[in-house]
Amino acid sequence: MSSFPPLSTPRLGVFDSGVGGLTVLRELRQQLPEVALHYVADAAHAPYGVREPGYIIERSLKVAGHLIDQGARVLVVACNTATAHAIAALRQRWPEIPIVGTEPGIKPAVAQSRVGRIGVMATPATIASARFAELVQKHAGQVQVFNQPCPGLVELIERGDLNSEELRQLLQRLCQPLLEAGVDTVLMGCTHYPLIQAQLQATLGPQVALLNIESAVAQQTARQWLALGLQSRAATPILQTTGQPTSFNAFLQQALAWPLQATALEL
Ligand code: DGL
Repeated sequence: MSSFPPLSTPRLGVFDSGVGGLTVLRELRQQLPEVALHYVADAAHAPYGVREPGYIIERSLKVAGHLIDQGARVLVVACNTATAHAIAALRQRWPEIPIVGTEPGIKPAVAQSRVGRIGVMATPATIASARFAELVQKHAGQVQVFNQPCPGLVELIERGDLNSEELRQLLQRLCQPLLEAGVDTVLMGCTHYPLIQAQLQATLGPQVALLNIESAVAQQTARQWLALGLQSRAATPILQTTGQPTSFNAFLQQALAWPLQATALEL
């Protein structure tokens, strides 16, 4: 049980390096409509996925500390990269706060593959992490896992032009090795990627199943929230970005059709 003083509006804190965590936030909003949400996009320091582990840990501690100071009593790391490198440090720093991570769903992908070959698309830092290697070792069994690091993809998504020729060409380049390997299932191992799910599916073709994990993360979070017995109070979500609010807000409108406004955060 939390040792923090009771709050009139305990919040669910959620963060990512940018707009990707919004794919988790929209699931949380559906599954926990009465819970007050606080989202931080650390866009001034994105992408995390090409950084050293020490940097990812430092930024994650900083953002999580801000959310907890502002009343978060459950935390969702809506970023595979930050989960891979920083969740242990976060849990060590705040043992009283339930912290839910986002990790590629190797287990369901393995269960679903008929040909015994799956692909994982994720940031270079996620694929290089010991946590990811453990996940594969634990759940892959006889199934072959083809890892596809995707440098540059988060940057293009953050830019907001989801139908550009540049994005189409990058997706073709990234998907080609997976298609050559003959995978029938591909995991989106980065919370940014469901924002371009249609474009990815078009590149991989209809014979490849594309899986994501955001709904399962929201389910796990709902269990944690309910177990704490916290008072839920519907409130307008707080959205903050360390980057430019104008581009973040444009994204909210265009990609998610949310009539919400993010404010600038210096952190
Ligand atoms: N959405 C983050 C993830 O799931 C992107 C990380 C990045 O900024 O590169 O890994």
